[in-house]
Amino acid sequence: MTQILRINKFNPEADIISQAAALIKSGELVAFPTETVYGLGADALNPEAVAKIFRAKGRPSDNPLILHICDVNQVRDLAHENDVSRAIMQKFFPAPLTLVLKAKDSVPKITRGGLDSVAIRMPDNPIAQSLIESSQVPIAAPSANLSGRPSPTDSQSVFQDMNGKIEMILDGGGLTDFGIESTVIDVSNPGKIALLRPGAFAIETLEKFLNAKVSEPEKISQPRSPGMKYKHYAPKIPVEIICPEDLTLSHANKFANSGFVGINQRAKIFFKRAIIFENVNNYARGLFFAFRELENQDIARIFVEWIPDWGIGRGLRDRISRAAGVDTNQS
Ligand code: TXA
Ligand code: MG
Repeated sequence: MTQILRINKFNPEADIISQAAALIKSGELVAFPTETVYGLGADALNPEAVAKIFRAKGRPSDNPLILHICDVNQVRDLAHENDVSRAIMQKFFPAPLTLVLKAKDSVPKITRGGLDSVAIRMPDNPIAQSLIESSQVPIAAPSANLSGRPSPTDSQSVFQDMNGKIEMILDGGGLTDFGIESTVIDVSNPGKIALLRPGAFAIETLEKFLNAKVSEPEKISQPRSPGMKYKHYAPKIPVEIICPEDLTLSHANKFANSGFVGINQRAKIFFKRAIIFENVNNYARGLFFAFRELENQDIARIFVEWIPDWGIGRGLRDRISRAAGVDTNQS
């Protein structure tokens, strides 16, 4: 049985943090909230502890993990930095933004999925930060779902997937802030910053700061971000993308016995179950939870609304496409 401990998101109780940190230090797994999704944490420098993450998730061993830090000075021992990576960290960290750099040998091979690079991020969440600080090690943490399932944005979703497989879940209450995972960029070549996974951090913000374009993922047989080649984020029932202009009476027959997730108020006329958000940010925040809620209802499929391609919309489109099993240009 996995222990769930409720903890204050803004002012995490020290005794709970120290219990969780003791588990991390002794090589066990603890799930914790970040501002994006819940992470499944282990001591990133302990290969046996990291192996437990891959086992608990059923994750392919070639899919590397993100190292979570609480202080930019930790990067020195983990990766080869450059002026651009330092500037980005100084300007934006903590943020839902992950930087891929050339790894130092201190990072075990298993943590980086056998690659010579390493992914690093500083989460913007007091629970996550206190846990990392108190553990005194970088914490490797993928999303705390079974491989292929929607990422967990609340503690109950973690419990559904991980009960009995991990020691502890820190429950920050409610849903995480962004609801989709961090944006992953490769900054190992400062002259050519590349987007590996769109996510919660708007790429436009980064481009403005760099005064340069971030290069788009190419369609290549060997994706640079190994995780991009796997089917992801999928609920148990089929997901289909729907454009807002197709939410009309003339299409209504194909909506029978279906659910809907999106922002268009018109959808409530057509669907048996419609989860409609006020804006795109709330849509991103609630998408994965909506998937988990709708898959247990008596419906045949879920229609998800397609949205414009900017800000968090970019990351949201990626998650929607993958859940629908549509071939995006990254896989
Ligand atoms: O918001 C997030 O990023 C969450 C929270 C918990 O921090 N974590 C997360 O981890 O989404 P995960 O393991 O579900 O996704 C990490 C992604 C994968 O697509 C992985 O392939 C990629 O980052 N990645 C990790 N290390 C990499 C590396 N060295 N080079 C390229 N891609 C890497
Ligand atoms: Mg994941």
